[in-house]
Amino acid sequence: MQTSNSPRDSFSSRFGVIAAAAGSAIGLGNIWRFPYETGVNGGGAFLFVYLICILLIGLPVMISEFLIGRSAQRNPFGAFKKLAPGKPWFLIGLMGVVAAFMILAFYTVVAGWTLEYIYQSFLGTLKDKDPVELKGMFDSFRNESYRPLLWFVIFISLTGWVVIAGIKDGIEKYTKVLMPLLLLMLIGMSVYVLTLPGAFKGIEFLFKPDFSKLSSEVVLKALGQAFFSLSIGMGTLITYGSYIKKKENLGATALSVAGADTFIAVLAGVAIFPAIFALGNVQSLDVSSLADEGLVFITLPSILYSIPGGQILSTMFFILLAVAALTSTISVLEVIVTYFVEELKLTRRKATVSAVLSVSVLGVLSVLLTGVFGFLNFTSANILLPLGGLFIVLFVGWFMSRKVTLEELTNKGEVRARFIPVYLFLVKFVAPIAIAIIFIYGLWSAF
Ligand code: PHE
Repeated sequence: MQTSNSPRDSFSSRFGVIAAAAGSAIGLGNIWRFPYETGVNGGGAFLFVYLICILLIGLPVMISEFLIGRSAQRNPFGAFKKLAPGKPWFLIGLMGVVAAFMILAFYTVVAGWTLEYIYQSFLGTLKDKDPVELKGMFDSFRNESYRPLLWFVIFISLTGWVVIAGIKDGIEKYTKVLMPLLLLMLIGMSVYVLTLPGAFKGIEFLFKPDFSKLSSEVVLKALGQAFFSLSIGMGTLITYGSYIKKKENLGATALSVAGADTFIAVLAGVAIFPAIFALGNVQSLDVSSLADEGLVFITLPSILYSIPGGQILSTMFFILLAVAALTSTISVLEVIVTYFVEELKLTRRKATVSAVLSVSVLGVLSVLLTGVFGFLNFTSANILLPLGGLFIVLFVGWFMSRKVTLEELTNKGEVRARFIPVYLFLVKFVAPIAIAIIFIYGLWSAF
């Protein structure tokens, strides 16, 4: 058991780091949130802005988080205290811990839904239902309070159980096996969906940008989705960065993680939108009537059950979705736990139990009140994460010692890291200015 005095735990291998960080990034954000945000906010135009946000803002923020974490060897709050003693930068770390509570409180609810769908797939109750019936089923499940609550408690406990085991023997061990499996399954589904009649319309919706759909609020949501999906802006990757060994190449790691995350989000879109349009031809449904939080829970069962062996496929799919969610909830809980261990000097066990219990209080509210759920979902992604990201790039671009930054990115001269000048330009100017503009305009029109 790790206490605050024993040597710091770390990821054991390069693949372990990437699997854990990609495990954090890839989750419900890609497969549940991305499709409905894209569906509601204009399809291709949203995707276009999203991709630009990933490249020009998300990637630099991710590299910055890794290097802050690895150089400080601390939780986000402690990292800023150490790197900027006596300055108020630690408030960003604190905001990250608050964001972690908020995200866990609604995200784990959705993760709980995946458990319900594993159970229903297993029982076979999703079989022979058309999308309208599946939507009815989803809505009535969500309005019940007892079942979603039960699944929430099970899921957050499961998360706590992995986190207690630590980095190498908990997080790393599971993510390494399960993430590749999810990828294979998603590829299989996309390929199948593309053969359905009407699939092309879905692909067109996803990839053909209609810029008249863009508004400042949509751009803010694309930015929020990019942050949410990459797990950046709140210190998850500062925390993970603090467990990365000194010999790993941070730039290359960030590129792999962001690349994998973006690939999976687009793949989820390819599995879902053609299906909606294929079903839409028959059932006269369209994206706007389906695109809410239930989208994935409605379209995916309808696709899977139209294939022979649908029941097994659907059970498997929801198991993998639950796993993807778990590797993300673990990373969010880890932020709170590392903070409790290092700042409140609790043992890992006590820190985990306290974190799970306190998240559960907010979680119960978000199960029972859709308003709270929506508020946590919107505010964490579209406000707290971009704000955190803004300060993180400002910190590295303008305040952190340039020597430390360069040492971290080149491993003290061991790796070439030719991207550094571009990276520095992005963190100093492009990313902060872009976030600030999108943020101000977006909020202006959202309220
Ligand atoms: N990136 C995760 C997902 O896409 C969610 C997440 C957000 C995890 C923020 C950690 C921090 O599902």
